[in-house]
Amino acid sequence: MAKVTISLIKADVGGFPGHATVHPQLCEKAEEMLSEAVKTGIVADFRVMACGDDLELLMGHAKGENDPEVHELAWKIFTACTDVAKVLKLYGAGQDMLKDSFSGNIRGMGPGATELEFTERTGEPLIAFMMDKTEPGAFNLPIFKMFADPFNTAGLVIDPTMHSGFKFEIWDIQDHVRVFMDCPAEMYDMLALIGAKSRYVIKRVYPKEGGKLPSEEPVAAVSTEKLYEIAGEYVGKDDPVALVRSQSGLPALGEVLEPWTFPHLVSGWMRGSHNGPVMPVAFENANCTRFDGPPRAVAAGFQIANGKFVGPVDLFNDPAYDAARDEANVIANYMRRHGPFEPHRLPLKDMEYTTLPRVLRRLEDRFERVE
Ligand code: F6R
Ligand code: MG
Ligand code: MG
Repeated sequence: MAKVTISLIKADVGGFPGHATVHPQLCEKAEEMLSEAVKTGIVADFRVMACGDDLELLMGHAKGENDPEVHELAWKIFTACTDVAKVLKLYGAGQDMLKDSFSGNIRGMGPGATELEFTERTGEPLIAFMMDKTEPGAFNLPIFKMFADPFNTAGLVIDPTMHSGFKFEIWDIQDHVRVFMDCPAEMYDMLALIGAKSRYVIKRVYPKEGGKLPSEEPVAAVSTEKLYEIAGEYVGKDDPVALVRSQSGLPALGEVLEPWTFPHLVSGWMRGSHNGPVMPVAFENANCTRFDGPPRAVAAGFQIANGKFVGPVDLFNDPAYDAARDEANVIANYMRRHGPFEPHRLPLKDMEYTTLPRVLRRLEDRFERVE
């Protein structure tokens, strides 16, 4: 059976105003170029979306992950959108375009990307998650809950096709190494890693061998780009995206969405330097206004039909998430009252690539030795 590939590639190429939203003209430009790419057969289908100041390109095709043509298309779209952003003098035009020219793969060039290649089932629900003002490790907690927490996912207990659990691929994004872990057998070891979310991030989740689904085809994948490692300094957070497949031996749609009723604390927010709650919102509310946030999550739900998108449904556009949003606002108030104090502000280690060290350096000469 033919495989399909879903690529979700995003970049901040200019904010409107400040770092709050994406200007509609950028979306229009991206739509225009992707429509052309459908005609020339580079992709089968697409959707253009936005979360905060991030322009999000969702593409369906049959070319596998890391396809040079698909990646180059995304790069060209972000380049053209940067030109539009420059004309409008949008804020930080071209912010995530950290390299001058394309060299075969968009990874390591600034934009964030996540891709899933899989054998399309008779009914193939797929959820695209996009977050702004936070980092890839912000997905650790919700993805863990979806695929490993029986208090979240009833199917882990009830459904014999899920009962043996899942395999997790975890990346150490500091040392650039990875480890595969078996869940639930190694759950406690896994939590020892992924609880440290600024360093260890869930990259992919796989079904176990001998189950309903091919064990080599990932069922969830998260972007892991680290902008400061490319640029050498703070250029904005690595606002992450994820793709999650669902149902029939995988977490049901409602089990994939249940973790988002908890507005967990993530790092990012103002100047990429603060801890704050993730607020799940409808697309129309994905505007990072308060203290450049609070960090937002949106979820677009699709059925995939031969690599094409049926949808989206704006999944957090639902009063079922009102309580999470209210709680996020209460937590945001509480955290904000700490002002410049930790743990609202990130610990010094995580401030290394922000502008703070430049301020501290100015004080270096003034320190005297004490007994
Ligand atoms: C967060 C983010 C913003 C900026 C802040 C200062 O990821 O991008 O919070 O860090 O608005 O921006 P500059 O330094 O460009 O004025
Ligand atoms: Mg920005
Ligand atoms: Mg952003």
